[in-house]
Parts: sequence; C-alpha cells; structure tokens
Amino acid sequence: PVLAMEQEYAIRQELGSLHGIPLFKSFIEGWPQVKAFQARPDDLLISTYPKSGTTWLSEIMDMIYHDGDVEKCRRDAIYNRVPFLELKVSKGLSGVEQLENTPSPRLVKTHLPVQLLPTSFWEKDCKIIYMARNPKDVVISYYYFHHMAKIHPDPGTKAEFLENFMAGKVAYGSWYDHVRGWWEKKQEKMLYLFYEDMKKDPRREVQKILHFLGKELAEGTVERILHHTSFQEMKKNPAANYETMLPTMMDHSVSPFLRKGISGDWKNHFTVAQNERFDQHYQEHMAGSDLHFQME
Ligand code: A3P
Repeated sequence: PVLAMEQEYAIRQELGSLHGIPLFKSFIEGWPQVKAFQARPDDLLISTYPKSGTTWLSEIMDMIYHDGDVEKCRRDAIYNRVPFLELKVSKGLSGVEQLENTPSPRLVKTHLPVQLLPTSFWEKDCKIIYMARNPKDVVISYYYFHHMAKIHPDPGTKAEFLENFMAGKVAYGSWYDHVRGWWEKKQEKMLYLFYEDMKKDPRREVQKILHFLGKELAEGTVERILHHTSFQEMKKNPAANYETMLPTMMDHSVSPFLRKGISGDWKNHFTVAQNERFDQHYQEHMAGSDLHFQME
C-alpha cells in the first residue's frame, strides 16, 4: 500500500503511460493543462532528454538573458527561473501555473518527446534549443538521479536499470526516439546542441547560441558567463544546484544533483559485456540516422 506521504509527494510510485510514453502519474494528471498551454512568440524552449545538461543550458540561457549579471541570476532557484512545463506534483504550483506567472521573455524547460510538444510552440514559431548527450553517460547519470530524486521508481540494480533504459522503460521513454525525433524536426528555428561539444569548447557553443539568438555580448560578459556556468561554480551555487529542493524530493547525500559533470564517466560503470551489448543495441537503433554521438 502507498503511504499517504508517499502519495502526497509522489515518492517512488510506478510510472503511468502518456500516449505510450512512460511518465510520472502526477504529470499525466496535469496533461490537459500542458496540452492546452499557450506559448508566446518570444518564449524560448529548452528541450532535452533527462540528464543531458538541461540545468547547465538553463543557467547559460538565464545568464545570456541577463547580460551576464550574476546577481540577477541568483534571484531564484533555477527550477523557478526556468519553469518546467509539464511539472505537476500535488503540492506546489504546476509548471503551467508557474509559466503563467512569469513575465516575457520566458525560458521554458521540457523533456517531452517532440510528438508531445504542445502545438502552440509550433504555431507561435518559438525558438527551441535542444541539447543531447551520449546515451552511455545519460543512463549512468539517470541511474544516480533515480536514487536521489524520489519521484522516480526504484531503479533496481545498475544492470537492471541499463536494461530498462535500453527498452525505453524509464520516464520519458526511449532515449533513441527522443534524440532522433527532435533531430528530425530540426529546422531554422531550432538549435541542436551536444553536451560533449559544450564540455570541449563551451566558448564556441555559447557563441553558437548568441548567433542563434541574434545577440551580441562583450567578450568580458561571455567570459563571466563561462565562469559562472562552469561545473565547479554551479555545484556551489544554491540557485543552480537544486539543494534548495525539499529533501523529501531530492536527497543530495545519496548523490548530488551536480554529480560529476564529465563525458565518459560510463567507463567507470559499464562492464565489458554491457558495453558490447549496448554498442550493438545502439547500432541497431541509430541505423539510418545522420545523428552521431561522441561517447566521451
Ligand atoms: P552527471 O550525473 O553525469 O554528473 P540535467 O540537468 O539534464 O538533469 O543533467 C544533469 C547532468 O548534467 C549531471 O550529469 C550534471 O552533473 C551535469 N551538469 C550540470 N551542470 C553542469 C555543468 N556546469 N558542467 C557540466 N556538467 C553539468
């Protein structure tokens, strides 16, 4: 039996299904409001599969929107500065309600697969930045995140979680469908970025974003943005590291939200056999696509 407290905070419940996509039951309850969401033409959507650098990109975007003003970017926690569109837990405002209270120009976060994005984002021709990360690092990051963020079902062992991830039986479904679906929708108003590129050359990636936004910033401002959004700075910034979240929802003593922040950590976790199996599965599921990932 589910305890009252568990129900209230949606702790460790089984996932439901939203149009075939496994998702938190509380989010599914809020779906009608999300589906009917009214985007504004100057909304910018930050879209990712979970654990792909959403928070990092969000902090970068908020800094760009505030011309590198660090103090302004400490005004609130990142999950309030960049509301999470489909968020719905019984206590607290839903993502849609939060967004309705947010003045334009708004930054909007979503993990929805492309086919479930509320149509008004397309109708209003909103700018979209998608960030993808290689699946081996995503699955390890997601595994640790399941331990600390209690909205998720129990992840089981690492081997079990790996199987579920490959089968798309985790929140937001198949990583393959997600990255490919958004890649295929790529058009003029969408910028598709990679976590691995951001790690390798954040200055170049920030310049790409500025170009996409049609915005220019002084060299010193870009420098400040890069410093403020580095892993070390974000890890100690309470407005960026999620430590202000209720401990009933996230337990950073189990695993911090900003855990490692590197590419290739999967090598410390995959067995040789798991890696071979994963590579094979990856080949099969990425066949025919011109979308390529750097695994480290
Ligand atoms: P790890 O668990 O591999 O460390 P999301 O924000 O989409 O949930 O993604 C979280 C992942 O992004 C975590 O990965 C986290 O450490 C990493 N991350 C967050 N901020 C980062 C930064 N400034 N630089 C590099 N990685 C960052």
